[in-house]
Amino acid sequence: MITILTSDSYRGFSAHLGELLAGASAAAQPIFVGRVVWPDCDEAEDVVVKLYETSSCGVANETIGYMVNALRGVRQPKKCGVLLLSKHELPDLKNDLSDYIDPVTGLAACWITSFEASSRPFRYIRRLSSFSKKQSETFYSSPFCIRLTTVDHVTGNNDRHETNFLYEDDLKYLAIDQGCVGGGKYWHTSWPEQNVRNELSLLAQGNLNGSRLAAWRAAAIMEYEKAQNDWIGILAEISSILPGLLVSDEIDCIIGYMKERATGPTFATSCERLI
Ligand SMILES: Nc1ncnc2c1ncn2[C@@H]1O[C@H](COP(=O)(O)OP(=O)(O)O)[C@@H](O)[C@H]1O
Ligand SMILES: [Mg+2]
Repeated sequence: MITILTSDSYRGFSAHLGELLAGASAAAQPIFVGRVVWPDCDEAEDVVVKLYETSSCGVANETIGYMVNALRGVRQPKKCGVLLLSKHELPDLKNDLSDYIDPVTGLAACWITSFEASSRPFRYIRRLSSFSKKQSETFYSSPFCIRLTTVDHVTGNNDRHETNFLYEDDLKYLAIDQGCVGGGKYWHTSWPEQNVRNELSLLAQGNLNGSRLAAWRAAAIMEYEKAQNDWIGILAEISSILPGLLVSDEIDCIIGYMKERATGPTFATSCERLI
């Protein structure tokens, strides 16, 4: 499911993200829009190309998050992959890119996703149209929001703020940016974070009133319970694609962490704290 592309598939820089996309957040790491030819395709397509420091586990986190979303049915950009580029193939991003390039291979392992031109970050849309109460409630009661809340709990993603999911229309959202699985980009150098903030839970708390929040919490707990039997298979599939991105101790660490979060009372407890 995760395609590895090399420079043969790369057709060069397309645009700086901010030029193409109103509301794109100031990026936490170098990011741009480039063109690639995906396997079995003839035409080059725009993709968002995101670099992570080689000392971080950002690309592995994106892979884990994308896989989990795909297997749990959370909408997200159509395609994803890892693109290996050398320094001279990267555009001038006004950053010193040395931390992003592997000193042994001379390559940057970039995370790429299809550029979703018709979407905008949720925060931008809400500010623009000052979302009505009804639109807001439609979002919080959507399977997208409820499912993603439980998925973010299991993966330990503490970064699902309003620019890390995109809005297409009131019923269509896309999850992006899974760089903070395990509580951050650097979990393997410390230890996965146990008390991660669940940003969607906090958003629900801030935007729903008492009885709506209680209904939201009940739906989220039901979704979490319903998924429990599926996690063993999902985690087995993920551990099979992580070699190459993480070493075996790291794979055992993050899979064990997610296994623990996929069952037991921690999700319900974290939701109860909201009421
Ligand atoms: N696949 C995509 N399609 C459209 N816009 C995207 C996509 N990926 C990222 N963006 C835009 O770029 C911004 C930064 O991307 P993101 O993955 O969140 O990086 P960062 O880790 O820097 O926050 C997002 O807020 C969004 O506006
Ligand atoms: Mg982001």
